[in-house]
Amino acid sequence: MNISKLIDGKAAAARVLQQVKHDVLALQTQGITPALAVILVGEDPASQVYVRNKILRAEECGIRSIEHRLDADCPQDRLLALIATLNADPAVSGILLQLPLPAHIEETRALQAIDPRKDVDGFHSENVGGLSQGRDVLAPCTPTGCMYLLEQTLGDLTGKHAVVIGRSNIVGKPMAALLLKAHCSVTVVHSRSTDARALCQLADIVVAAVGRPRMIDASWLKPGAVVIDVGINRIQDGDRSRLVGDVDFDSALPQASAITPVPGGVGPMTIAFLMHNTVTAARQQAQAQVQPHNSPSEAACLSAY
Ligand code: GUN
Repeated sequence: MNISKLIDGKAAAARVLQQVKHDVLALQTQGITPALAVILVGEDPASQVYVRNKILRAEECGIRSIEHRLDADCPQDRLLALIATLNADPAVSGILLQLPLPAHIEETRALQAIDPRKDVDGFHSENVGGLSQGRDVLAPCTPTGCMYLLEQTLGDLTGKHAVVIGRSNIVGKPMAALLLKAHCSVTVVHSRSTDARALCQLADIVVAAVGRPRMIDASWLKPGAVVIDVGINRIQDGDRSRLVGDVDFDSALPQASAITPVPGGVGPMTIAFLMHNTVTAARQQAQAQVQPHNSPSEAACLSAY
């Protein structure tokens, strides 16, 4: 395998987390301890693993974590009341509501209940709208992690043609907004696109976020394309199961100039940028207390990621 083509998400996430730890220490000297509240409704096995990892990582960074587990049949009003309590608690910097939610809970209603200043997932419409306007807001963690990997690999992305495969609210749409903000030409292809493959063949950058195992092979790629694989799909391989991406890695590798593996590519970046967003939220909340009049310096202090 040509290791030089691999984009090492584990190493990149470790660098981001190192910076987060440093930022936490700096905030602590000002008497501020960032805190992340994580809400899990129900017992989805994958969500339980994600939540455990988020809490462990927070603690490693010096971020206080507060876990709230609610039963799968918890009434929506109880969840909304919990979110209201966390919104009002000045000791809570960030609130993460793990998705998916049980069917009886309206996802949009619950996400909109989170104070946008504590919305470390960047899912509130105020942050979604701000991102689409190109403002420095709390942006979704997975696409932000993808941008970090792309900029580490390519440097300035200005003028590149990026094709995003998938149009989810969590990855595809915010990914397109971030690429546009970085001055790429952006095409979003999805299940209703006419000839998604032909559009993808024009791309300098391919971001695959469809949730279909190994859908993208070499025939989708221009030689030298940079490939970011967001997919995490569990497949049965003989008598054991394993994780594969949305990209057929073995087929794509010779065609790509750089590619993320699965696992060890985008995956670790999501949690790293959740920690980054939590520290950013804590810093902004502290600054808002010092400068209650929305002074311009508040916006100027927002960091690029
Ligand atoms: N479920 C799958 N991905 C995510 C994510 O990025 N944030 C939250 N809150 N839930 C998820």
